[in-house]
Amino acid sequence: MRQLSQASFLVLLSGTGTGTIFNVFATPTKTSLDAVFTTAFTWPTYPDLQYATALPRPSETVIYARPYSELESLAGPQKTTAWASIASPVDSDDEFGNVAWSSLWASFTVDSPPFTTTVTPTPIPSSQLVKPTPLPFSIGKGETDDLKFPRDFEWGFAGAAMQVEGALKTQGRGPSITEVIIGRSPPGIVGAGPPDISVLNYFLYKEDIARLAALGVKSYSFSIAWPRILPFGYPGSPVNQEAIDHYDDLINTILEYDMEPIVTLHHFDTPLHYLDNSSWQGYAHPEFVDGFVNYAKIVLTHYADRVGTWITFNEPNLDAALLGNWNASYHVVMAHARTVHFYRDEIKGGGKWGIKLALSSGFPLPLDPKSSDDIALTERQLDFLIGYMANPIYLGAQTPSSVIETLKSEAPSYTEEELQYVNGTADFFGVDIYTANYVTSLAEGTEACIGNSSHPSFPTCTNITAVRENWRIGAESNASPSTWYQHARTIFKYLHTKYPTAGGIIIAEFGWSTFHEADMNQDQARTEFTSTLAFLSVLNEILKAIYEDGVKFKGALGWAYVDNWEWGQYNDHFGVQTFNNVTLERSYKRSIFDFVDFITGHSES
Ligand code: FCB
Repeated sequence: MRQLSQASFLVLLSGTGTGTIFNVFATPTKTSLDAVFTTAFTWPTYPDLQYATALPRPSETVIYARPYSELESLAGPQKTTAWASIASPVDSDDEFGNVAWSSLWASFTVDSPPFTTTVTPTPIPSSQLVKPTPLPFSIGKGETDDLKFPRDFEWGFAGAAMQVEGALKTQGRGPSITEVIIGRSPPGIVGAGPPDISVLNYFLYKEDIARLAALGVKSYSFSIAWPRILPFGYPGSPVNQEAIDHYDDLINTILEYDMEPIVTLHHFDTPLHYLDNSSWQGYAHPEFVDGFVNYAKIVLTHYADRVGTWITFNEPNLDAALLGNWNASYHVVMAHARTVHFYRDEIKGGGKWGIKLALSSGFPLPLDPKSSDDIALTERQLDFLIGYMANPIYLGAQTPSSVIETLKSEAPSYTEEELQYVNGTADFFGVDIYTANYVTSLAEGTEACIGNSSHPSFPTCTNITAVRENWRIGAESNASPSTWYQHARTIFKYLHTKYPTAGGIIIAEFGWSTFHEADMNQDQARTEFTSTLAFLSVLNEILKAIYEDGVKFKGALGWAYVDNWEWGQYNDHFGVQTFNNVTLERSYKRSIFDFVDFITGHSES
């Protein structure tokens, strides 16, 4: 550095603003000006605050079907009641009166919600819309900068009635099987608690929609509770008018905010009437199919006009995985097909249909992709995970032979006529993916297991591991799942190739429960990074899959829009918002901002 006179140095200092260390001439220990300049410091100002904004979208109302007034008769004769308004509780003569309704709940004690009227949303304070600090890393930088999600890509967040609504025994809702099989507060489960109040979305739905809309979220995926619509559950029992009005207003609220509703008819809340011993959601019950179709007809005649994306069942393939009841899937497939036929043939609606299949134990991948044995076993695993339901629905094909040969009479099977009826009853491929793992052979060989139905690995008879070459497949969440982004394109390409649909793939749920988030305070939970990493890495792979692998995508929905009741406990925090369990107040976590920014940053302006 060239030498400066003392005068010119003072001039220089005077222009540098506050915070500069002025006492530079006092007993210098080292006379070099380099040292002087390195001690000069100016506080920089911070970048301007960035605020999230609602998506600018034209509010055009899309009509998918005729209104209820014109469709009503298609659901057959139905009588309607509003239990809350029944004046006399002493109505034991009435088969479906208050006394009968109360007796449905006789064996449950349910906590009442703190309030029982719908909350009018308040505008989201701008302080809550301030974006978090920009990420210190870029996902996809250079790789996907110029890639855009298709204009019609459906993205947003999901919830499910049983997990978020609360108000369990309120406004005429009947009990569901889940209250029995999971119970109110299962002992021995960390964070155990009942779903009775949860996040009280039943009365806070307007606030929930407003909060998502304020951030620019496009779609809200929710489920309708069958035991709310039909508290007694079965055909001929009365329809609950308050539930009909509730979901009517929920759908209207979503549309008022220019968001899109994605509606699931069944998300693990089968009415108690269908309780049976062999399937955990009553699928095996002999009346299940007729009961579901009756319920679906009531819902569709009411709401088909305003909803463009419908899903019949959430993860019905968990039943076989959990209870080994493979035959019951036949009922689910037939109930799904009859519902879609009703919609297409009688309602003549223009919306699209799907079913959400789970990859319960994780999406299987060959441990050694060069080993034909590992590949064959991976395909066998997939046959048992999704093939036995996906084959008839997407391909009009029989249950995979591996399943039939192993399970014999326990395997679901379809007549040619049934296969024709079921074939093509999904417009898009719905799938929930939380994790992946590797498949290889059992030490004792596959055949020994296939021949022994009491073998612990029966009927898949595969060896599943999360570890390959000394590394777990990915970072571990609080639940069992691990990150799986490095295999995402393989998984998408497999599904696209094996079960092609005109509508493409929708990842109807993907998400992350941060390790030990339940032990964090609210600020820690809101600012942590791992959920951002889990979401963005998958979104980035979707872009590559679309443009580099030619995979057709319909959309991607993060689970969940808020932390919620995770089937017996509140310990796994999958939400992109936290909630205060006393005030029920929601707070955005950084992952929701990062998710929205990633999508909008890769969208046509
Ligand atoms: C899925 C369920 C959903 C939620 C997430 C974490 O399998 O469909 O309800 O529990 O897992």
